[in-house]
Amino acid sequence: MYRVLFVCLGNICRSPLADGVLAHKLSLAGLAGQVAVDSCGTGGYHVGAPPHCESIRVAEQHGVPLAHLRARQVTIGDFEAFDLIVAMDRQNHQDLLALDASGRLHSRVSLFMSYVPDAADQDVPDPYFGGSEGFDDVYALVDAGCDTLLAEIRQRLADRNPSAPH
Ligand code: 4NP
Repeated sequence: MYRVLFVCLGNICRSPLADGVLAHKLSLAGLAGQVAVDSCGTGGYHVGAPPHCESIRVAEQHGVPLAHLRARQVTIGDFEAFDLIVAMDRQNHQDLLALDASGRLHSRVSLFMSYVPDAADQDVPDPYFGGSEGFDDVYALVDAGCDTLLAEIRQRLADRNPSAPH
């Protein structure tokens, strides 16, 4: 199993969208059984809550189920449990690196926008304090980045198991 974790601040707007979109793409690609996807927040403000209603709305408009997800806060154990940890913005990235004070697993942490082709910014903008269009903008970035991630994950699976068909 290859394990991917998306991390934002509250785990109700951005990272659940990335979680749902990548899981959906993996399922369509027939890879759901080989890759586990999860999301969490650096903050604990919304632990146990479902995604923001606008994240659920935009995901469902694109056929992606999201309402089953529940927010949780990142733990140090996540560094061992996940192969790839994707921060939605630079602050999340910095907070993750600070959590793994040893630095031993820093190479597992990447920035979501590094997967978005021709990105103008390094952060997935936080839509929490804005209007509903912000969530549509986040969806477009998440969709583009997850296409790149899907290709990268296929490669990593092939590298792990060179004899398997892919
Ligand atoms: P997220 O958005 O990090 O994309 O889930 C936020 C959600 C909640 C808060 C901030 C950002 N908050 O301050 O409660």
